[in-house]
Amino acid sequence: MQETNEKTAAMIEHLAAVNKILEKYNCDESKLIPILQEVQEEYKYLSKDVISYVATSLDIPPAKVYGVATFYAHFALEPKGKYVFKLCDGTACHVKKSHSILHALYDRLGLSDDKQTTDDLMFTVETVSCLGACGLAPVMLVNEDVYGQVKPEEAVAIIDDILAKAAAAE
Ligand code: FES
Repeated sequence: MQETNEKTAAMIEHLAAVNKILEKYNCDESKLIPILQEVQEEYKYLSKDVISYVATSLDIPPAKVYGVATFYAHFALEPKGKYVFKLCDGTACHVKKSHSILHALYDRLGLSDDKQTTDDLMFTVETVSCLGACGLAPVMLVNEDVYGQVKPEEAVAIIDDILAKAAAAE
């Protein structure tokens, strides 16, 4: 029972943040994209519950919100890790072997093209199109930080560093 109460309290708190975003945009359906962007910034992804709630609040069908969320690659429908590694797979980075970095990260974390987030939600590894810094190819983003001319072992070292810091903080 206590667990149920805690879940309900967490859900209410969760939706309170969504409510603030909806209020900011006056529940205006035409602002659906910026609304979803802000909701995703808050929670890192758009859960089924949140999508349904946004749809109900805007008085539009959930399918319409899903349609927008799935159309734009920017929106995530699955939870992402605390650290999101984005490997550029644009032409310049591809030529400079960005795939070897991708596979080094996959190997280190037990991930693949079909499973891009670790079970502990610590890491997500994904590819993105040109990041606009081709002179630094191959380019990788870790959350907001940009790394240029990355070597596979350097990318793996970033993971090891994050894990070491996390272990030291426990
Ligand atoms: S191709 Fe990677 S930054 Fe442009």
